[in-house]
Amino acid sequence: MKDIEIGIIGGTGGIGRWFASFFAAAGYPVHVAGRHEGMPLPRLAERCRVVIVSVPITATPAVIRQVGPLLSADSLLMDFTSLKAEPVREMMASTGAEVVGCHPLFGPDCPSLAGQNLILCPGRGDVWLGRMQALFAKGGARVTVTTPEEHDRLMALTQGLTHLDTLLMGLALREAGLDAATLDAFSTPIFRTKQAIIGKVFGSSPDLYAAILAQNPEMERVLDRYEKNLALLKRLIVGKDAAGLAVLIKNPFDSRPKSG
Ligand SMILES: NC(=O)c1ccc[n+]([C@@H]2O[C@H](COP(=O)([O-])OP(=O)(O)OC[C@H]3O[C@@H](n4cnc5c(N)ncnc54)[C@H](OP(=O)(O)O)[C@@H]3O)[C@@H](O)[C@H]2O)c1
Repeated sequence: MKDIEIGIIGGTGGIGRWFASFFAAAGYPVHVAGRHEGMPLPRLAERCRVVIVSVPITATPAVIRQVGPLLSADSLLMDFTSLKAEPVREMMASTGAEVVGCHPLFGPDCPSLAGQNLILCPGRGDVWLGRMQALFAKGGARVTVTTPEEHDRLMALTQGLTHLDTLLMGLALREAGLDAATLDAFSTPIFRTKQAIIGKVFGSSPDLYAAILAQNPEMERVLDRYEKNLALLKRLIVGKDAAGLAVLIKNPFDSRPKSG
């Protein structure tokens, strides 16, 4: 399989570039394309039996529709998009090639695949699915195979809820209008950790985080749950119900709040 050429659209940036290095280190010839540099899409599609779409979420459907029809039936069309239902649907509709949705659950600052989670969503065919699964597992990834819908449902909880929470804390702090020196003087170790995460979310890839929150249809359900629990906490805190709060704090994953 080492003579297979791999093309990554979006391989000039972010996670696409990371995987270009990964595949190259595994011995595969890799070609990358961006809007402004790299191989033109028709040539990339002609040369590469594996074509991976790794462009910003909002640009993904259009790029898939552009490249999908150019691939032969024995090729693989795969994507790295952080959401899976829409890209997999677009890939299935636009190509006769094998289709696999892939979401690496880590960013380009990660040193290696070892121990990292990676989700695969089978679309069409199982030859390339098996090959990709074996390749990622060999690199040390913890590979989980699931449906695009289940992926989006669970990512709304683990990724969407995390970013929502971070964003909300950042906005509340911003509104408080404290200067950096005051915040620093009153910081606890846990606050500093959270502050660093807020800095990362607010400071880098705002479009990526915005799309992860705004484009996942499952986020509405997560927001409903978030609002309901925030209202419950507000009621307990404003009502000075420390005992009720302590019950929730003791085991937040298992406690069933007793409302009313
Ligand atoms: N970053 C992460 O932590 C991470 C993790 C897992 C999955 N993902 C997913 O990976 C995908 C890429 O995210 P990223 O953070 O790597 O983005 P990024 O750093 O902004 O890189 C995007 C890449 O796509 C190219 N590009 C942008 N628009 C394009 C278009 N219309 N046609 C062709 N190429 C285009 C860019 O090159 P030019 O600017 O030269 O066009 C660049 O190579 C997203 O779907 C994201 O959800 C990201």
